[in-house]
Amino acid sequence: MTSILILNGPNLNLLGTRQPEVYGHTTLSEVEKACIAHGKQLGVTVSCLQSNHEGALIDAVHAARETHNGLIINAGAYTHTSVALMDAVASVAVPTVEVHLSNIHAREDFRHRSYLAKVALGQICGFGVQGYLLAIDALNKHLES
Ligand code: DQA
Repeated sequence: MTSILILNGPNLNLLGTRQPEVYGHTTLSEVEKACIAHGKQLGVTVSCLQSNHEGALIDAVHAARETHNGLIINAGAYTHTSVALMDAVASVAVPTVEVHLSNIHAREDFRHRSYLAKVALGQICGFGVQGYLLAIDALNKHLES
């Protein structure tokens, strides 16, 4: 059975109360439940992990090599800063889709650059929580092909 790991980075544990005008009112736990349910409909096992720590996210990417067929990552602000996380994704050869709730290209200039985009299959941004479900669909189709 296809197995996908969804990684959420710094400050995403505060979803629901964090700048709801930008990120919406849905909590991380609700996002994760929706992703797991969506995966079930497709026959895909979805597991989820959130960390505020760059090293923990890197460790999770490394571990996914043995346990998961694909990764979905919303790295939060590490998207724009972390060469180390980009290198981790490049090092494991686990197909990865990048997700952002907000449209990072329509926001401040510093959010326009994504290190992850250089090593991801593709990027989905600007569709809120729906973006995670779209990423599951895209990754699942990619893994089937
Ligand atoms: C984000 C966008 C990032 O720029 C920001 O730092 C986040 C959330 C998003 O989901 O829209 O923490 O990744």
